[in-house]
Amino acid sequence: MLSSARMTNLIDGRAVATKVYAELREQIGNSKAHGATPGLAVLLVGDDPASRAYVRAKDKMCRELGLYSVKLELPATTTQRELLARVEELNRDDSIHGILVQSPPPKHIDEAAIVRALDPAKDVDGFHPVNVAKLVLGDGSGFVPCTPLGCLRLLRETGVGLAGANVVVLGRSMIVGKPMALLLMRKGIDATVTVAHSRTKNLPQLCARADVLIAAIGQPQFVSSDFVREGAVVIDVGINRVDDPGSERGYRLVGDIDFEAVAPIARAITPVPGGVGPMTISMLMANTIKACRQLTRH
Ligand code: GUN
Repeated sequence: MLSSARMTNLIDGRAVATKVYAELREQIGNSKAHGATPGLAVLLVGDDPASRAYVRAKDKMCRELGLYSVKLELPATTTQRELLARVEELNRDDSIHGILVQSPPPKHIDEAAIVRALDPAKDVDGFHPVNVAKLVLGDGSGFVPCTPLGCLRLLRETGVGLAGANVVVLGRSMIVGKPMALLLMRKGIDATVTVAHSRTKNLPQLCARADVLIAAIGQPQFVSSDFVREGAVVIDVGINRVDDPGSERGYRLVGDIDFEAVAPIARAITPVPGGVGPMTISMLMANTIKACRQLTRH
């Protein structure tokens, strides 16, 4: 779905997310007809402003769609044991089908241990080892992390052929880079995937061979026009706050791509904000509905 406004090659994440929500409303109606309201619990430890904003947005979207939403905001002093007890309580709660612990937690929390404590059937982030394994194995009953799922949906809506295409994923995180690569190389999607990162040699030249470039390295405007082949499709996963004394909030959001430099040569490109960001929440809602269907077997 390319935007007709302003630029013809802009991939409009808000428009695609709206389309996803229309599909989800139908699925939610179906779940409710079977007596099940999908429920999501979001846990936030501490008061990081960006995390608070994300958690609020997730809660708001649940309510808009008519999902059951529980938002638990815990103090930064919450102990590992207290957090584990909350997770275990939610694992046992039949009205909750999806559980998300907002990342990153405070430093004294062992995040990997918290993720392992989640019931994999409720791990709508797709971070639990069971779900990571299912992604590697191509088992569709697992949960795939929301950001890569959103990127894939954007690529599909853009109409770019992925089978056999050279896709470069810039970044190797467990939240985006690794699952993105696994998803794209799945049978049926069939992309040829290269994962590049900060230690990759000749990074601009490598990226410039890509038909599709996905940037998820968390460095503001890192990708210049040297990294992009003319006619490539470019997906920007980065959401970076940079100081902007002239703006009301004192900062503005930029992606990992130097948008002004890259947009004129790309066949299609996601903006920041309004690209990948709105898709991530829509995929979280989709995963929650899937969890509800699988747990209630309808
Ligand atoms: N922090 C940034 N992105 C995410 C995400 O997708 N899930 C969780 N739990 N935390 C995040």
